[in-house]
Amino acid sequence: MRILLLKLMVLALIFHGTETRIQDGPPLAFHYYKQTCPLAEEIVRRHVEIAVVRDPRMAASLLRLHFHDCFVMGCDASILLDSYGDIVSEKQAGPNLDSLRGFEVVDKIKHTLEDSCPLTVSCADILALAARDAVALRGGPRWNVLLGRKDSLEASFNGANQYLPAPNSSLETLIENFREQGLDLADLVTLSGSHTMGKARCFSFRERIYDARFKEQDYDKYKRYTTFRRILRSICPESAGKNSSLAPLDFTTPARFDNNYFLNILQGKGLLGSDTVLITQDHTGEIIKKVWAYASDENLFFASYASSMVKMGNINVLTGSQGDIRKNCRFINN
Ligand code: HEM
Ligand SMILES: *[C@@H]1O[C@H](CO)[C@@H](O)[C@H](O)[C@H]1NC(C)=O
Ligand SMILES: *[C@@H]1O[C@H](CO)[C@@H](O)[C@H](O)[C@H]1NC(C)=O
Repeated sequence: MRILLLKLMVLALIFHGTETRIQDGPPLAFHYYKQTCPLAEEIVRRHVEIAVVRDPRMAASLLRLHFHDCFVMGCDASILLDSYGDIVSEKQAGPNLDSLRGFEVVDKIKHTLEDSCPLTVSCADILALAARDAVALRGGPRWNVLLGRKDSLEASFNGANQYLPAPNSSLETLIENFREQGLDLADLVTLSGSHTMGKARCFSFRERIYDARFKEQDYDKYKRYTTFRRILRSICPESAGKNSSLAPLDFTTPARFDNNYFLNILQGKGLLGSDTVLITQDHTGEIIKKVWAYASDENLFFASYASSMVKMGNINVLTGSQGDIRKNCRFINN
């Protein structure tokens, strides 16, 4: 008993973190469903393709779902749970409310998978695969997805409010948010490149275009406001209205997954405060060096992106006998 306790303590130390679990399950594996559900990856890809043809923004939305899943208790599909019984949905938390999209697409994928191979493919793996496919479909890199995640039996509303980074965070806070997840500065810069597609609400970038902290960025060399800022101000008035009017995160190529995000932020055209501070608050020059490297070499960005996504997809996963495979991604099995 004492030895077991000691072991647990050591494990707890090794995996020290705010909401980490003790990792005693087997590691994730490539082609995990090869025997049990050989068409799993194909089924996910087909659905993502159809969803993105119907609604191009869905690629971005699916990518973001995986991110918001992984940063709260790990990549365990906790984000997909609706409020029911004891569960308070993460969907209601500030960073997610009126913002996350793609749940119906995940439902459809799950439905098809349940027809083909019941209780076999986890909702957490669906999110990881859909994110990969979404990026690839919009012209980004493709990577092999490690699989075998299990789904959580709980959600964390408070965790969603606490661990998801905010668009008005300082660089220091963003670095800390990522560090808490075992992701480093390079991962932060690389994964911020996800903002090469998709949209944000006026609510998320109002501070960025009116707050004095960001003003300098928006002057041209003649001290005139840039066109960029004028456009954003017309989309998003300073008064509290129009919270939900949208602007593209990447103004130059809004629907493509490419390296233009990095050129944008170098030019002061990052949409969110969190994009802007990567440049304005980088006192060591380490980030700017990376941003230049990505802006001038898309292949370098793509390779780093793939490896940071694999790393993100590994955050606190449940495997083996941990967790469950949900029948319906919105509810735990009864
Ligand atoms: C660095 C910290 C980050 C912050 C502060 C942040 C914040 C945000 C915010 C505020 C939005 C707009 C939401 C809205 O207004 O409805 C957004 C959109 C988005 N984020 Fe991030 N994000 C971060 C990192 C990431 C990462 C790591 C990923 C993916 C791995 C990601 C993927 C996306 C995508 C794809 C969208 C567009 C979603 C859509 O159009 O539906 N973000 N993000
Ligand atoms: C960021 O925005 C939130 C919500 O609007 C606000 O409560 C918070 O004080 C802001 N934080 C900073 C650092 O400006
Ligand atoms: C927009 O968001 C702000 C900040 O949360 C809020 O005070 C305001 O009431 C919202 N406006 C509308 C029209 O919903």
